[in-house]
Amino acid sequence: MADRILGIETSCDETAAAVVDHATHVRSSVVASQIDQHARYGGVVPEIASRAHVEMLTPVIAQALVEAGVADDEIDAVAATTGPGLVGSLLVGVSAAKALALVWDVPFVAVNHLEGHLYAAFLEEPDLQLPLVVLLVSGGHTMLVHMEDHGRYHLLGSTIDDAAGEAFDKVARFLGLGYPGGPVIDRLAAQGNPSAVPLPRAMLDRTGDDRHDFSFSGLKTAVVNHVRRHPGVAAADVAAGFQEAVVDVLVTKARRAATEVGAKGLCLGGGVAANSALRDRVVKACDEDGIRAFVPSRAMCTDNAAMIAAAGWWRLRADGPSPLDTGATPNLGLPVAG
Ligand code: KG4
Ligand code: ZN
Repeated sequence: MADRILGIETSCDETAAAVVDHATHVRSSVVASQIDQHARYGGVVPEIASRAHVEMLTPVIAQALVEAGVADDEIDAVAATTGPGLVGSLLVGVSAAKALALVWDVPFVAVNHLEGHLYAAFLEEPDLQLPLVVLLVSGGHTMLVHMEDHGRYHLLGSTIDDAAGEAFDKVARFLGLGYPGGPVIDRLAAQGNPSAVPLPRAMLDRTGDDRHDFSFSGLKTAVVNHVRRHPGVAAADVAAGFQEAVVDVLVTKARRAATEVGAKGLCLGGGVAANSALRDRVVKACDEDGIRAFVPSRAMCTDNAAMIAAAGWWRLRADGPSPLDTGATPNLGLPVAG
């Protein structure tokens, strides 16, 4: 039984490695962010990302092993993100993981990045009870997932246009606040009045098959139009109004979904789950609805390799090792059940 997993994550702009025991005990989790190298371009530049992964991955893995206090021959399996993500970036982690698995003669496990985000909460709450509804909100994804059992997911809804994090990044760029936009808007919003700028809440009244879907591109346009018509408006009020509109829609839809499927809890995942207002509102909503709120630490919400090792442990148990000819799949979807 493979119990100690080395996880590797290189799908976007974080080079990460972690050692996790039994999918629950994080021995080490090292994350080298490339944000500084991309910030001046206002977003992630794929070519820069791949090169930085090549430079950083070996020292990051070495650091993860040292911090975990384990030798090479004490690793039972190597798990790496194979998608979704940037193909050049993914290939760096996948190739390294396969090479290490071969050299160490241990299983290689291909992990879906989205499944990794779903497992982040289990690292901090090993007794998490299923079924759960997970609100997965990142720079590339906005999803409501019904996690019925381990490895058994139903995609209830997703965004029909921009992802929630993408909306934060685009609005921040428009306001001249820099990249990534989420953390800056989060800070600025704390000083603003969320009701000063009236902004739309898209798709809240849907009752059909698209009732759990999201749309954020109209909100971004509404922000742009408002600022152009009112050039003197305070940036803090715009940030607060925008954040309130995003959080309102996310929380309203997530709690409705949790009620509909009879979930025992509502769980947050992905980079946008680091947002202070979203975290507060989810805790309050779950309290009112009598279900548990699982709000992972900020480090566990953003991209890291501990969540990849945890998801890898479950995958290995369910499916066995992945073939060594497994490649990178940039548009890999969440493996959904029936
Ligand atoms: O999960 P993640 O680290 O990378 C992806 O897989 O996309 O998410 C990054 C996204 C970015 O869009 C960033 O602006 C957003 O998460 N983000 C936040 C906050 N911190 C990061 N959005 C809102 N509030 C935050 N505090
Ligand atoms: Zn992510």
